[in-house]
Amino acid sequence: MGLRTDIGVNNSGYTMRLLYICLLLVASSSAEFEEISDVTFDGEPGIWNGAPTVDLENYTHVQICANHTSWNATMTDTYWNTDMADTICQYFGFTGSMIIEVMDFAAPGFAMCKKEQNNTDSRLQLSCKFLEVCVGVPIISCLLPGYEGCYTQTATDPFFTNGSLADLGDQQVNIQTCAEACSDSPYLGLTNGSNCICGSGLGNRSLVGDCDLGCQGDDLQQCGGEEATSVYSASVIGQCESERVEIIPDQPHYITSPNFPDIYEANVSCSWILDINVPLFHDLEIITTFDFEDDNIQHLDISSESDLVELTPAGTSGTTVLSRTPYSTLQDTITVSLTPSSGGNSTAFVMKFTLMSNTMYTPANDYTTAPPPESTTSKAGQNVNLGKLAMSAGLGVILAAILLV
Ligand SMILES: *[C@@H]1O[C@H](CO)[C@@H](O)[C@H](O)[C@H]1NC(C)=O
Ligand SMILES: *[C@@H]1O[C@H](CO)[C@@H](O)[C@H](O)[C@H]1NC(C)=O
Ligand SMILES: *[C@@H]1O[C@H](CO)[C@@H](O)[C@H](O)[C@H]1NC(C)=O
Ligand SMILES: *[C@@H]1O[C@H](CO)[C@@H](O)[C@H](O)[C@H]1NC(C)=O
Ligand SMILES: *[C@@H]1O[C@H](CO)[C@@H](O)[C@H](O)[C@H]1NC(C)=O
Ligand SMILES: *[C@@H]1O[C@H](CO)[C@@H](O)[C@H](O)[C@H]1NC(C)=O
Ligand SMILES: *[C@@H]1O[C@H](CO)[C@@H](O)[C@H](O)[C@H]1NC(C)=O
Ligand SMILES: *[C@@H]1O[C@H](CO)[C@@H](O)[C@H](O)[C@H]1NC(C)=O
Ligand SMILES: *[C@@H]1O[C@H](CO)[C@@H](O)[C@H](O)[C@H]1NC(C)=O
Repeated sequence: MGLRTDIGVNNSGYTMRLLYICLLLVASSSAEFEEISDVTFDGEPGIWNGAPTVDLENYTHVQICANHTSWNATMTDTYWNTDMADTICQYFGFTGSMIIEVMDFAAPGFAMCKKEQNNTDSRLQLSCKFLEVCVGVPIISCLLPGYEGCYTQTATDPFFTNGSLADLGDQQVNIQTCAEACSDSPYLGLTNGSNCICGSGLGNRSLVGDCDLGCQGDDLQQCGGEEATSVYSASVIGQCESERVEIIPDQPHYITSPNFPDIYEANVSCSWILDINVPLFHDLEIITTFDFEDDNIQHLDISSESDLVELTPAGTSGTTVLSRTPYSTLQDTITVSLTPSSGGNSTAFVMKFTLMSNTMYTPANDYTTAPPPESTTSKAGQNVNLGKLAMSAGLGVILAAILLV
């Protein structure tokens, strides 16, 4: 162990502490994987990106480790991957992950997690255990609502029918500035890291592309590839008012805060009306992810004609799931309203409404069987930035030792 050469071993006090550290390492590595009850994102805005953190039985708010010193080939299930990032994003109601970056980090106290199909909470399929040392933590961002997929195009087969390059003025390209610029178009596309295209119709969707470039205005967002376009429905992101929408079984419907995923001014009023008109009983699931802890400013309410759906998240943060299993109303109208109160800015929120069909005899929260987003071939795993994993495993151990001694 490199430790011994760095810290004098003639001093018996140090030796005792070293022994203690070694025992601690042994003890912690024998800890069992535990089911966790929640995962949150550290950092701002925290709704759709950040470093995932969990609470364990004896440790609160520990960051998930992407890679750790004891990694070896027999522990491949603990290796950080796209699958885990997708699982975390799905927990928050997003369809999957957009980008994973691994940042070097070396303080003691992390969680090593693996994907677990069999957890009690089938929406949160992670089991974790405490880890003393870690060499890299993941920063992940989730696919924003409205994502249609990553497509390429040829000269004879332009992806967007009547697409035109948007003029963003002096604003940098990212999904929200492009969505704002294309708010009069049904679709928007981000390509080559820096171009925003507003489109009137979707082209040939079998021309799947490879989106692997960060946006000029935010490298935690994906803006297509050199030959590929990240395509979104423009009506989903950050729209305050929307037309009355009918929720179709098995097609998730999203509502996002004004200016999503950025903050918005608290003086706005928005309302969204969703109709449900289905011939059979369905399960209804509403996932709301928000951070209203610091700013008890806005009032967000979900209510329905049938009174079966009611939710007023306030004064807290995290993910709230409202499940109705089965939803015993065949016709209903759900109203989501955001009403202004005191001044200031508010952080983003996102809501996902899903009416699940044929779930009468299966668990309501069988989340992973929901249809995947249409041909999202852009693999976030390709963006794992190995270059940032500069800290060596040995250094991690030494740092941990110094902090502990
Ligand atoms: C938590 O701490 C208690 C008391 O030290 C211990 O018995 C228990 O095994 C610990 N749980 C885990 C998961 O390490
Ligand atoms: C984690 O470590 C393994 C083995 O050292 C390596 O193959 C893998 O690329 C690392 N993963 C990340 C995300 O850095
Ligand atoms: C890999 O890790 C497992 C579990 O900690 C351990 O049992 C095994 O001996 C390790 N293998 C190597 C080659 O280090
Ligand atoms: C899943 O968990 C249940 C209860 O803990 C257990 O009975 C069952 O065998 C587990 N299934 C698998 C495939 O591990
Ligand atoms: C493209 O634009 C032209 C003229 O502006 C219009 O007539 C045509 O319907 C548009 N095509 C599509 C597919 O939107
Ligand atoms: C993509 O951007 C790079 C530089 O940012 C530029 O050199 C290249 O020509 C662009 N490609 C296309 C197809 O526009
Ligand atoms: C889409 O593009 C592919 C590959 O170029 C082609 O084979 C297919 O016929 C196209 N489909 C349509 C509907 O144009
Ligand atoms: C909200 O307040 C800002 C200034 O704080 C103002 O510019 C904006 O017009 C207001 N919006 C509404 C909808 O009142
Ligand atoms: C709210 O956000 C806007 C734009 O980001 C900023 O100019 C303004 O100062 C903020 N207001 C408060 C009260 O924080």
